[in-house]
Amino acid sequence: MLTFEHALGEVAKTVNVMMNHVLPVASGPEKKVMEAMKYGVMNGGKRVRPFLVLASAKLFNVSEISALRVAAAIEMLHSYSLIHDDLPAMDDSDLRRGQPSVHKKFDEATAILAGDGLLTLAFEILSDPATHSDPAVRSDLVLALAKAAGADGMVGGQMMDIEAEHMNLDIGAITRLQRMKTGAIINFSCEAGAILGKAADQSRQALRAYANDLGLAFQIVDDLLDVVGKEDAVGKSVGRDQQAGKATFVSILGIERAKSQAKLLAEQAKGHLSVFEDRADLLKAMADFVVNRGH
Ligand code: IPE
Ligand code: IPE
Ligand code: MG
Ligand code: MG
Ligand code: MG
Repeated sequence: MLTFEHALGEVAKTVNVMMNHVLPVASGPEKKVMEAMKYGVMNGGKRVRPFLVLASAKLFNVSEISALRVAAAIEMLHSYSLIHDDLPAMDDSDLRRGQPSVHKKFDEATAILAGDGLLTLAFEILSDPATHSDPAVRSDLVLALAKAAGADGMVGGQMMDIEAEHMNLDIGAITRLQRMKTGAIINFSCEAGAILGKAADQSRQALRAYANDLGLAFQIVDDLLDVVGKEDAVGKSVGRDQQAGKATFVSILGIERAKSQAKLLAEQAKGHLSVFEDRADLLKAMADFVVNRGH
């Protein structure tokens, strides 16, 4: 566990350097939005998605610079989703990654614009020739991220998540919601390495199956931490789901069954990686980390 956390910390350091490099420099009368963008991404965060990009890219001998640029893009997009998720109109959360949320540090309008700026920057990075020399690879990355982040993916999932505050969802509906809200971006993070490395179908399918189970396990644990986690340790407001009357895995399954379901999914996720033999150890360790964190 310690060694894995060290590896995750190293990923955070390298991706932070890359993100600093691609973030716009704050200047001019518009500089507030750049400052808020930087604040919203450089404020900690586990960097789970960048780790998945780098680990999956390693399987296919992708150049480090390509993988790092994609890792930076996905973390920009993820951070945008958190900035908007915390807004009063959504989850109304004042604490994120151990610090005031962007709308608290700045103001709501700036938080909306900073999110928009980060979302757009993610696609700018993917479509930049510096990310990959082959335009077909760049366009595949853009297409895959657009699908994962849009109304059929994360945005649609966030819509259902808000509706879940006043709807009685069953386990099937919750599973679909979480696959879209959280799973789609985790799927993209794993698939990105395969896109960059022009991987064969069999490898792509294995990564997809791994990511499907990992994404669900990840969100179950996130829902658990909202109930059993401490604000100091989790670094964000807790108890928000229950307060909002939101249907989650935990509200439906209860704490114990949710925990065992997450464990089962993580084991299943690792099982899908057997095609890579011992080359997927980092991805396997990530599955363990996801279910053990905060417990
Ligand atoms: C939180 O994601 C939001 C979800 C999709 C559940 P993370 O737990 O990865 O948050 P950070 O990036 O580490 O802050
Ligand atoms: C947010 O889910 C998922 C996103 C797509 C941003 P949550 O609302 O559960 O995330 P936290 O718990 O605030 O990090
Ligand atoms: Mg939310
Ligand atoms: Mg939230
Ligand atoms: Mg949550």
